Amino acid sequence: MTVSREQHAPPSDPRLHEGVDDGTAIGVVDPGAEPVRVPASRYTDPAFAALELARMWPRTWQLACCVDHVAEPGDWFEYRVGPYSVLVVRAEDGELRAFQNSCRHRGNVLCTGAGTGLTELRCGYHGWTWDLGGQLRKVPGRKGFGHLRMSEFPLHPARVAAWGPFVFVNLDPEAPDLASYLEGVPADTEWARLDEFRCVASLGGEVAANWKTVADGFSETYHVQTLHPELLHNIDDVHAPQRLWGHTGKSEQVYGVASPRFKDGLTDAQVWESFVVTQGGRMGVSDPAAPLPEIPAGSTLQEVLAEAIRAHAARGGTDLSEFDTDRIMRLHQYNVFPNCSFLLTADTLSALVARPGADPDTAEMIIFAFRRAAPGTAYRRPVDSRVAFEKLDLGYVLNQDAAVLAGIQRGLHQPGTTDIVLSQEEKRVINTHRNLERYLGIGPRD
Ligand code: FES
Ligand SMILES: [Fe+2]
Repeated sequence: MTVSREQHAPPSDPRLHEGVDDGTAIGVVDPGAEPVRVPASRYTDPAFAALELARMWPRTWQLACCVDHVAEPGDWFEYRVGPYSVLVVRAEDGELRAFQNSCRHRGNVLCTGAGTGLTELRCGYHGWTWDLGGQLRKVPGRKGFGHLRMSEFPLHPARVAAWGPFVFVNLDPEAPDLASYLEGVPADTEWARLDEFRCVASLGGEVAANWKTVADGFSETYHVQTLHPELLHNIDDVHAPQRLWGHTGKSEQVYGVASPRFKDGLTDAQVWESFVVTQGGRMGVSDPAAPLPEIPAGSTLQEVLAEAIRAHAARGGTDLSEFDTDRIMRLHQYNVFPNCSFLLTADTLSALVARPGADPDTAEMIIFAFRRAAPGTAYRRPVDSRVAFEKLDLGYVLNQDAAVLAGIQRGLHQPGTTDIVLSQEEKRVINTHRNLERYLGIGPRD
């Protein structure tokens, strides 16, 4: 499918309240607070991108791949961010290991891409060879080096840790461990049994925007009322609580109800139609004209939607019976600094990642898609696709998010745009900048 990338704002919907905005109405925001300003050059300046590469990317935990990519001994996955390359390997003892992808002889990378069946790590240039634990085992023509002690040349390690279905890496040996880095998130997601989710695919492509332009789009719901008008028919985007821990934050959004921004509410049929268009796949319904099912007396549309999702999951062999309507209809969206957001309901999990490209105006955007499987289900390698941006079809709502990226980036370059201006609804964007400032050792106006 070819995805339309035109950007134009439709006229505002006359059915919407003018006055219902951020959290003022629900007492979240101090109405006397000043807007937060952040220098726009952080998104466009090559010197700033270079500072991020020097001080932030080698010191933070980043989602590299999924357990499904490296489930069996001999499986490996190369994670790249900027110039950095980390090799994630499942060793013979079943442990995950990670190495800086660099030969100790003259620096050649050892593996590129991803694969399976690895028994050793052999450099393709002159043949130095390590075992999967990173110990040097073979040096062709070793005598020519004089007294070369094999034990002095292990592969340089990187940190690696799995949490749920996610595999994170960190190049900093001094970094806090992943569990502390994730702060309150593991406890907050315990109910969801993340281990049961299997990654089925990843899809990505290059976008003409800074990595933060991409990540910011997954760090606020302020844009829903304008960019996702169809979604507004089935989301409460006003009572959407947010929480910040430190490196991490979250937002919750309830689906299957009309946005309170509609003055006179919406009919169940309108909410249903919007849910089908934006998330019908969760119920196995793809026809946008599918009629509204009967809503039993004493029940709500939300309960009917949740039951349709349970029934669809059951047809695929997944039991959601223990998850109540709220667990199914409430989206828990987490942000993990610097560049990962994952979206969770009882039946869905996806992770969105933005990585820096060759310059500040390009990034790689990747989505990992998961499905809940019965406990004990065997691992299968996900299908990983990287495509040209024009062919990047991420689904109805994410395509809308992707369509604005290049325009935002171009706008940020205009000489009058010295700052971006942020509301408290965008507190997770603000939090990204506060974390960046800590890692880069700069102030809020730098
Ligand atoms: S660079 Fe790897 S063996 Fe020479
Ligand atoms: Fe969006």
